[in-house]
Amino acid sequence: MSNVIELKVPDIGDFSDVEVIEILVSVGDTIKPEQSLVTVESDKSSMEIPASQGGVVKAVKVKIGDKVSEGTPLVEIEAAGEEGAADKEEQVPQAAAPAAQAAPKAAAAEQPAPQPASSAGQGAEQVVTVPDIGDFKDVEVIEVLVKAGDRVAAEQSLVTVESDKSSMEIPSSAAGEVLEVLVKVGDKVSEGSPLVKVKSDAGAAPAESAPAKAEAPAAQAAAAPASAPQASAPAPAARRQPPVPADAEGERRGVKPHASPSVRKFARELGVDLTKVTPTGPKGRITPDDVRNFVKQALAGAGASAAPAAAGGGLDLLPWPKVDFAKFGEIEAQPLSRIKKISGANLHRNWVMIPHVTNNEDADITDLEAFRVQLNKENEKAGIKVTMLAFLVKAVVSALKKFPEFNASLDGENLILKKYYHIGFAADTPNGLVVPVIRDADKKGVLELAKETANLAKKARDGKLSPSEMQGGCFSISSLGGIGGTHFTPIINAPEVAILGVSRSFMKPVWDGKQFVPRLTLPLSLSYDHRVIDGAAAARFNAYLAGVLADYRRILL
Ligand code: COA
Repeated sequence: MSNVIELKVPDIGDFSDVEVIEILVSVGDTIKPEQSLVTVESDKSSMEIPASQGGVVKAVKVKIGDKVSEGTPLVEIEAAGEEGAADKEEQVPQAAAPAAQAAPKAAAAEQPAPQPASSAGQGAEQVVTVPDIGDFKDVEVIEVLVKAGDRVAAEQSLVTVESDKSSMEIPSSAAGEVLEVLVKVGDKVSEGSPLVKVKSDAGAAPAESAPAKAEAPAAQAAAAPASAPQASAPAPAARRQPPVPADAEGERRGVKPHASPSVRKFARELGVDLTKVTPTGPKGRITPDDVRNFVKQALAGAGASAAPAAAGGGLDLLPWPKVDFAKFGEIEAQPLSRIKKISGANLHRNWVMIPHVTNNEDADITDLEAFRVQLNKENEKAGIKVTMLAFLVKAVVSALKKFPEFNASLDGENLILKKYYHIGFAADTPNGLVVPVIRDADKKGVLELAKETANLAKKARDGKLSPSEMQGGCFSISSLGGIGGTHFTPIINAPEVAILGVSRSFMKPVWDGKQFVPRLTLPLSLSYDHRVIDGAAAARFNAYLAGVLADYRRILL
């Protein structure tokens, strides 16, 4: 006996000839009972139709665009167990039975008429409430389609509500002017919840067009939530819907994204505002691919008009080139080190987010270098080697004291000025760049700074720096002097606001008024955050620093 069975559309109330807008399973999928098979949609609502039992999908009998009604075969499945396969075929319609049983319960007479809010009669105020929408309780309002002052026609949709599996518009039972909207997006509503207060038109006959009357049958269908998501497809407004005036419909189209519940859920998970997504589906419907494409464009910076970044213009970058390098010769893929990945991400953010400008200056260090060499001779026995870096740290502290906005960080609209002087320096290690920090550099002498930089640089190379030894920096120095180069643009180490790049010293002929004399010159490249520091201040800072290095006695001033 074959255990292949056909799963059909259950009783979905008056919902007949509704269009399949999504197929949620494919051949080969293992599906569980209650798993959604397809989404169907009418004028006013969409719903997912679940499987009445689980198994492996053998064939999908419908395609997007097909019109289905109760009894239309949707998929063929091989049921999970052999036993009672024939019975299960019998059970299929039964699984849908709650809806069928419930449907007759719908009766206009059972539905409450709109509640008068004030005296009855022509132009009376009425509170329009949620009609009987079956077991649909505590459903979320996802759209409010009218506002105070609007004129609504009877049966015109007021709000859209959404459950896990379906969404529906709830129409007005009265025609007239909206005096007050009593719900907002995110509110949970059930039968009887007040939606709007309407001043009804003279001669309007609310009792005849009461929403409950128009909507009840399918709403009644929701029998057992677990077994009848299909039954929770009340689609009240979808039924016996008088044509909405063209202008009102058009107005609504302008504000209301047209998408199925699963697409809405998908968009919510990704934080996508559906009103910004361009629909490509039939009748202007947003498809899952539309949402995906929107996200892709936003991430690539191309969604300038839609992405959140668009407010700032977006970067509008081309996608990164994808090249098969092996086509051009032998290659080897080497994973980035952990440090490279972390520092790369930081450098990228800092480069993109901080408006950098670099000021270049030359410092005459002829005398300082002579002093340094002398000092190293004297301290040779003590094993202390003083490099230019220690002098630079001390000179930078002096400049920071003179120009406090360089010893600062941006915090929203505040500039945080620091009264301490912790100086970071970039250290080149086999695994990548790290920035150890010398604490309270203002309280240390050049010899102590020399010892500490050597010690921290060794720890950095050995990969032994603790996180606290890399935190709290106020200003950084990147010295490439031991390696080479003339000038470069160092990237600011956020949230600091400036960084000093130092290149290799070189002999420069300098005119002393009578003749050219050879002077040892140190190139200083000061990158600064232009949001905080003006070009003139940067030029002053760099000139001051060069002055101190040219005559170290100035530190005392
Ligand atoms: N001009 C000429 N020579 C210089 C110099 C300069 N500006 N700075 C240093 N030197 C010399 C030193 O005197 C030393 O010479 P010696 O061997 O004859 O004594 C030699 O270069 C090597 O110095 P180094 O050991 O590098 O010491 P340092 O104190 O100058 O620098 C570090 C220490 C940790 C900053 C350095 O080793 C380093 O890692 N630099 C790279 C920083 C980096 O990668 N920055 C880029 C960030 S994007």
